[in-house]
Amino acid sequence: MTITLSPLHPKFGARVEGADLSKPISDAEFEALQAGLDQYAVLVFKGPALTPEQQVVFATRFGELEAHNGVIVSDKPRRVTPQLVDISNLDENNSLLGQADRRRMFALGNQLWHTDSSFKRTPAKYSLLHAHTVTPEGGETQFVDMRVAWDTLPPKLQAKIEDLWAEHSIFCSRAKLGFTEFTDAERAATPPVRRAVVRVHPGSGRKTLYLASHASHILGWPVPDGRMLIHELIEHATQPQFVYTHKWAVGDLVIWDNRCTMHRGRPYDEANHRRDMRRATIQDLDPAVQDYGAEGKAAAVA
Ligand code: OGA
Ligand code: MN
Repeated sequence: MTITLSPLHPKFGARVEGADLSKPISDAEFEALQAGLDQYAVLVFKGPALTPEQQVVFATRFGELEAHNGVIVSDKPRRVTPQLVDISNLDENNSLLGQADRRRMFALGNQLWHTDSSFKRTPAKYSLLHAHTVTPEGGETQFVDMRVAWDTLPPKLQAKIEDLWAEHSIFCSRAKLGFTEFTDAERAATPPVRRAVVRVHPGSGRKTLYLASHASHILGWPVPDGRMLIHELIEHATQPQFVYTHKWAVGDLVIWDNRCTMHRGRPYDEANHRRDMRRATIQDLDPAVQDYGAEGKAAAVA
């Protein structure tokens, strides 16, 4: 089968046809998808729905899966295989999560513009989100290309931010929602990390902003100044004309490159409608983007 890509938005994003994701893909198909990702950053595939095993097999073509270690510690069994992240409003019995459920409140943070796992020592390279049950209204996912955000910044601002670093923490994005009830153990397990604000996207050689709701402040700057800058840059990046909105159908699979995009979920009637999505996440093992933490590189690679 020949893979074809058709643009979804003037700036980025493409619909893929001619790939059967239920079977192992050939090297030639993989190369076409990799090139498509490097160019378009977001690729959309239409169903039919895949089994969790098929999703994992396809995802693994793109690299090593992120180990599942949720930030919030729950004594409840997981609803989905440990290789996938549960992006749903459902509990372990497939019932709607209660309004006060911590898992629901934590998941609301996905509705803030972010890139996946920027707060982890090893961030995410790609995410592959697959739709099993979709909502009749709302629940879209929106994307922006952060290379476009960089390209459209005034040169003076580009020069000002070129060498800056930001601190990223999951507790920063959740605090924006007023969700701060984390245990000491949960906080200690995911310490803040440092990330360059401007990077070169390896697949395209283009410069990109790297920001997220998790970005707290700019290293070496007073916190309020850094926070305002981050706010201004995210506002710039997410102007309506830069946004692609994906309306989900059952069986859709969307891959995005976390190194040069941001995304957010849109609200929906969580109390009455089920939304069941599952995400495979590929680690970004590029040594240049690791944060080795207080123990340093030697300890991390030992
Ligand atoms: C994710 C995510 C948003 C959504 O899967 O990483 O942020 O629309 N999803 O569910
Ligand atoms: Mn996400």
